[in-house]
Amino acid sequence: MERRSKTLERVFPLSEEAIVELANEYGTPLFLVVGERVMRNYAAFQEFFPGIEIFYAVKANPHPLVVKTLANLGSSFDVASAQEIALVLEQGVAPQRMIFANTIKRREALRYAREKGVSLLTYDNEEELRKIRTVYPEAKLILRLKTPSLGSRIDLSYKFGADPEEAAMLLKLAKNLGLETVGLSFHVGSPCHNPENYLRSLEIVRTIIQEGDREGVKLTVVDIGGGFPLHTYYTEGAEASMEYMSERIYPLLRSFLAAGYRVIAEPGRSLIGNACLLVTKVIGKAVRSGRIWYYLDDGLYGTFSAIPFDKASFDFYPLRDSEEEKPCVLAGPTCDSLDVIAEGVKLPPLMLDDLVVVPNIGAYSIASATNFNGFERARVVLV
Ligand SMILES: Cc1ncc(COP(=O)(O)O)c(C=O)c1O
Repeated sequence: MERRSKTLERVFPLSEEAIVELANEYGTPLFLVVGERVMRNYAAFQEFFPGIEIFYAVKANPHPLVVKTLANLGSSFDVASAQEIALVLEQGVAPQRMIFANTIKRREALRYAREKGVSLLTYDNEEELRKIRTVYPEAKLILRLKTPSLGSRIDLSYKFGADPEEAAMLLKLAKNLGLETVGLSFHVGSPCHNPENYLRSLEIVRTIIQEGDREGVKLTVVDIGGGFPLHTYYTEGAEASMEYMSERIYPLLRSFLAAGYRVIAEPGRSLIGNACLLVTKVIGKAVRSGRIWYYLDDGLYGTFSAIPFDKASFDFYPLRDSEEEKPCVLAGPTCDSLDVIAEGVKLPPLMLDDLVVVPNIGAYSIASATNFNGFERARVVLV
């Protein structure tokens, strides 16, 4: 049998020895961000989607080390709140390199965006337009459309996006209010493995651009949102990669670029998801109703918040090998019975203090972690 840690090395560029050493130095739970992976993801996006401007979606992982790494690579940023604007400004990013891509914004946040000079904003409804007019009338606006997210785990056209049928009315209203709409955006859901969603969305965009023309509104920016799946370097088939998506959707995107449109994207997951690894420790073990339970020092209220909030699932790599594997339950450290990470996972018999490593946990994980029960969040280290 191949050692688990060997399999791990194929999905993650760190040796078992290096992981153990880092866990000894920093303690657990430990969240490792591999800078080289972030760079490779960023370079892969540029390679497979040339000419498309990258606005990293800060919500996916707002750790300052992550934002700084991407800022140094030249990324721009999608921010959703005044706090995210402040965080990105603190990393030395100019306000022109941000899009405030939350279609429902607090008035205070709009005021802050104006004060700081973050001028590109999204909207998808009438009330928001009226709010923007009172607080930030000189902003440059992007109308977000509701488009298909077939097959995506998280549907991002459920809570957001104007019906394409309402688009012309909203463009006209904005114009009548003295506001400038410069482009259109959509989000195909996350993660999106179905290129048809992008293709269909871009066809809708094309139609609305023509409707805009008829209303005297010239739209020059196309924002294709996020949704790109994790770029896989070693394991899954090419289908999950940026390459696969690029082959199918880039020809259409290229036609927008060739026609002079500014095309931007807001990738989150695809830039950070596979760049991070969680190192967690077995802190308890029990047999309940004939099942083995291992209690880890991180759980659903911490880094594994990706499970309830992002409907994510993960692979577990204990740094212990054995021929014999048994189904077990993995639970978090809090007093809440809800805090169960996974059931029926086949693992070798583990002992207290064993390390369990979890790759591909960079997106929507520490972003939504809490300190429930007083447990500290995972320590974040850039390697
Ligand atoms: C407006 C917007 N843009 C971008 C993203 C990032 O999406 P993803 O992580 O799928 O790339 C999200 C995710 O919620 C979003 O709401």
